[in-house]
Amino acid sequence: MKNITIQDIKDFKQSNSKFATLTAYDFNSAQIVDAANIPLILVGDSASMTMYGYDTTLPVSMDEMLLVVKAVSRGSKHALVVADMPFLSYQPSIETTIMNAGLLIKKGGAGAVKLEGGKRIMENIKVLVGHGIPVLGHIGLTPQSVHQMSGYSVQGKTSDGAKKIIDDAVAVENAGAFGVVLECVPEKLATAITNTLNIPTIGIGSGNTCDGQIQVFHDIMGLSQNSPPKHAKQYSKLYDAMLDVCKQYK
Ligand code: KIV
Repeated sequence: MKNITIQDIKDFKQSNSKFATLTAYDFNSAQIVDAANIPLILVGDSASMTMYGYDTTLPVSMDEMLLVVKAVSRGSKHALVVADMPFLSYQPSIETTIMNAGLLIKKGGAGAVKLEGGKRIMENIKVLVGHGIPVLGHIGLTPQSVHQMSGYSVQGKTSDGAKKIIDDAVAVENAGAFGVVLECVPEKLATAITNTLNIPTIGIGSGNTCDGQIQVFHDIMGLSQNSPPKHAKQYSKLYDAMLDVCKQYK
């Protein structure tokens, strides 16, 4: 497989080819995802929970993200590595946004970054793209705003809420993002956005009609003790398998 670029991701939409993407947080899991020919690996700030054991995505720092982004970049030969920008690494100012996105590319080895928000962060996206840093947007349920949203619930259920998310999607595309993650919005809304945008939508908990899908590595592998979210199919229960190996070894 060739090295995947943002153009390849955009081309999936033009050729009507549905695609699957996955998160990864270390060298070994990046190698596995890459070997499965998955074209895009997101080093999500979900690393906050999966790698560092925090309760939400809020505490993870730039230094902690850089460690996992570097490991994934070393493990991925072909997939496009997208690094999530952690909470407070882009909200304070445009300068902060450029510096931190630049570090994820320059030191982390990522090929693109992901930021949460729509209209509100249009300027941040524009500036990054203008400086040659590709951006994947993320709208709908944005976990870095968990307190503002009063929890992790489906977004865009009212007509006002849906309109706001459509406006956000259009803003993200107009700002120059190469794609957008739609997290936990009703399928009808995800379909409308997917039909409106020229860039691919990548859904999670948003039904089956997006151009691509994304899931968290640990959720589909059954790697953690907790049950995965409703939208994540667990293909294995690696937690139990690994526990069993430890017991046998002991
Ligand atoms: O951090 C993450 O893993 C994400 C995906 C769930 C889209 O943002």
